[in-house]
Amino acid sequence: MAPSADVFATTPLNPPDAIFKLTADYKADTFDKKVNLGVGAYRDNAGKPFVLPVVRKAKILIANDETLDHEYLPIAGLPAFTSATGKLIFGEDSPALKEGRVSTIQTISGTGANHYGAAFLERFYGPWAGKTKEEKVIYVSNPTWANHKSIFNSVGCTPVDYPYYDPKTIGLNLTAFLDFLRSAPAQSVFLLHACAHNPTGVDPTREQWKEIADIFTAKGHYAFFDCAYQGFASGDLDNDAWAVRHFVEKKVPLLVCQSYAKNAGLYGERIGALNVVASHSGDVEGGAQRINSQLLLMQRSEISNPPTFGARIVSLILNDPKLFAEWKQDISSMAERIILMRKKLFDLLENKYKTPAVGPNGWSHITSQIGMFSFTGLNPQQCKDLLEKGHIYLTANGRISMAGLNESNIEYFAECVDKVVRGQL
Ligand SMILES: Cc1ncc(COP(=O)(O)O)c(C=O)c1O
Repeated sequence: MAPSADVFATTPLNPPDAIFKLTADYKADTFDKKVNLGVGAYRDNAGKPFVLPVVRKAKILIANDETLDHEYLPIAGLPAFTSATGKLIFGEDSPALKEGRVSTIQTISGTGANHYGAAFLERFYGPWAGKTKEEKVIYVSNPTWANHKSIFNSVGCTPVDYPYYDPKTIGLNLTAFLDFLRSAPAQSVFLLHACAHNPTGVDPTREQWKEIADIFTAKGHYAFFDCAYQGFASGDLDNDAWAVRHFVEKKVPLLVCQSYAKNAGLYGERIGALNVVASHSGDVEGGAQRINSQLLLMQRSEISNPPTFGARIVSLILNDPKLFAEWKQDISSMAERIILMRKKLFDLLENKYKTPAVGPNGWSHITSQIGMFSFTGLNPQQCKDLLEKGHIYLTANGRISMAGLNESNIEYFAECVDKVVRGQL
């Protein structure tokens, strides 16, 4: 019998990515009051993508610098970028940096960092030696950024939920989370959102982080920090790195993924970093040098050399005190606009429309949650109605991107939420 010509006959059709489909549907919608609250990208008060003024400046400096060429970067990335990015997350005086225990490689944004982080653990995490894919468990918060599960699965790890969000309180289920940490096998790997939890906007307080870190220390758990929003949560870069720095201080074994998509608005440049903190420096067992050598090997086999443009922009910003100060201003202006939208939305629902509450504390979760996203507490049917009847594009779990709200559309959005909650949309 002749071999089948259709060698992909059994390839299953995968549905389109939910978030990107939402944006495509939004673009195709001709309704004049349509609102896009799906995508996790910052928009200015006119609903437009925002190029940070400091990024514009850096681009001009790069364009005018005739010493720059288009050669390959080193495998680990632009050295001025990798050294500065580590300082940004761990702090200038970090003991881990001073002791030479941090291995940093430039990655394809936060997604690439998550990918390498999990792939590195899959190959080298000691407690996983000889284990099957099903046993190489990375515990992820329920819910989490949808891509975490795909990324971890794709490199031979198994994502398993841990309790995090409590729909009844629209807040953190701290007791269940702590109990889970205590009862998980020793040296388990836990993904933690460093700040501005996606999708809920619900972060532990400092006191709660301390309790969490104490259990990590006691149980020898591994912290897989994903930090995609440093500066975006509170408007302050150091503040948003507090949990990571606290875990380093407590000597919890950890890695940190960084992204400059959101805090520098460099979504398309794909600039990020993976930082693995070793117990020792140098070429000793468990030392940074060995870890670094394996990260380089991974990078080489996957992309050979990371891209230059985004690394140059971020490197200029991080290494020039004047540009750095301007960046901080830009970040706080984005964070402040989001905080303002939270206050406005709360005020409209609570005071203007007196919308019946969906949680135990009225609409206060809108202002207590932080970062780009808010979990509204709206149920899937209400979300569907908002989409189909109000032309408001949000995910079925009730998550909205606060950055999609502005002075021109917030009234319409609040009015629709009020109606949908009352069953009158
Ligand atoms: C929690 C989280 N991690 C990582 C990322 C990665 O984003 P990027 O690859 O664009 O840096 C995102 C983006 O939405 C995110 O929300």
